[in-house]
Amino acid sequence: MKKLATAFIALTAVGALSLSACSSNDRDGDSGSKSTPTAGSTDGATGGAGFAADSTIGVALPQKTSENWVLAENLFNTDLKDAGFKPIVQFGNSGVAEQQNQIQAMVEQGAKVIVVGAIDGSQLGTQLKAAKDSGAYVIAYDRLVKNTDAVDLYIAFDNFKVGVLQGEALLKGLAERKGSGPYNIELVAGSPDDANATPFFNGAMQVLQPKINDGTLKVVSKQTGFDQVATQGWKAENVQKRFDTIMSANYSGGTKLDGVLSPNDTLARGVLTSVKQAGQTDVPVITGQDSEVESVKSIMEGVQYSTIYKDTRELVAQTVKTIKDLQAGKDPEVNDTKSYDNGVKIVPAYLLTPVVVTKENAAEVYANDPTLGPLTK
Ligand code: BGC
Repeated sequence: MKKLATAFIALTAVGALSLSACSSNDRDGDSGSKSTPTAGSTDGATGGAGFAADSTIGVALPQKTSENWVLAENLFNTDLKDAGFKPIVQFGNSGVAEQQNQIQAMVEQGAKVIVVGAIDGSQLGTQLKAAKDSGAYVIAYDRLVKNTDAVDLYIAFDNFKVGVLQGEALLKGLAERKGSGPYNIELVAGSPDDANATPFFNGAMQVLQPKINDGTLKVVSKQTGFDQVATQGWKAENVQKRFDTIMSANYSGGTKLDGVLSPNDTLARGVLTSVKQAGQTDVPVITGQDSEVESVKSIMEGVQYSTIYKDTRELVAQTVKTIKDLQAGKDPEVNDTKSYDNGVKIVPAYLLTPVVVTKENAAEVYANDPTLGPLTK
């Protein structure tokens, strides 16, 4: 108990420090500073007494808004079974209420660990409290859960870093493909209910805002605020609708769109469809994320400029490893105890490193990925 109390005070102190150091370009939109994950340690996340080796483990995934979630479903089922557990892996296809019911049912079935990829990170407080009250351990997977203390650990790729890499890729692509500036650009963000959408956008804007301020980048539509550029449900049809309007209002009469910040591959392809339909033949430099098969193909064809590789196998493997540690009564591995303030607590995290991919390094990056590699340039 004493050790725990000391850890809490230390964490609070770190939290206060990072709060005072925070800027508007923070990771989660609430607070937190940027840090590079250090080597794994067990500071800040405590396990428990362990549990039976054949326990039920619940995995609540969101909707299938990108390929990574489908991959995760398969991997969780296989890897948890191989480790001797009884997995319940479910998608909340019809929305928040379904996901809430699924988590509640997992608790009732005695799940010892609940892994959550939240549809809406702020709407699971009641169900996760029930999980904690039942003695289960709660892991936020890929997306942070907000405004609740009923979460023990966050395992994800470094989302703020994803945004930074996207911002940098957009600038690099513009310089490579569109000559010297100034450049006409537009911005896209992810779904406002997904806790990841803000750190992606804030990371990118940390890189892009100074270039908007100095006139290198011109957002012709003037839509620069997160709320103006967010895409409900991460749906391609929603971004397409927005771009249909943007294109006809701002890019008729010879004004060309040079570049687009897109937070993921699905939305990048939606934007490209809209730009093409608007009659612009010059492909804008566009970023993405997830290394989806169709987007990787497009990158190799010289159309989409970049994506981000967040190997789902790595993320699931780290999560399953954590579950095994918990089963054995060991403290789980964490490497960041200050960046992810969920509004109620700083959630200890294990962050993996995302990789930016363009045509230049794709073959190398995907060399060992059975879905994407081997590629030839
Ligand atoms: C994930 C992204 C994904 C998006 C839409 C985010 O929370 O981190 O990889 O593109 O959800 O599915």
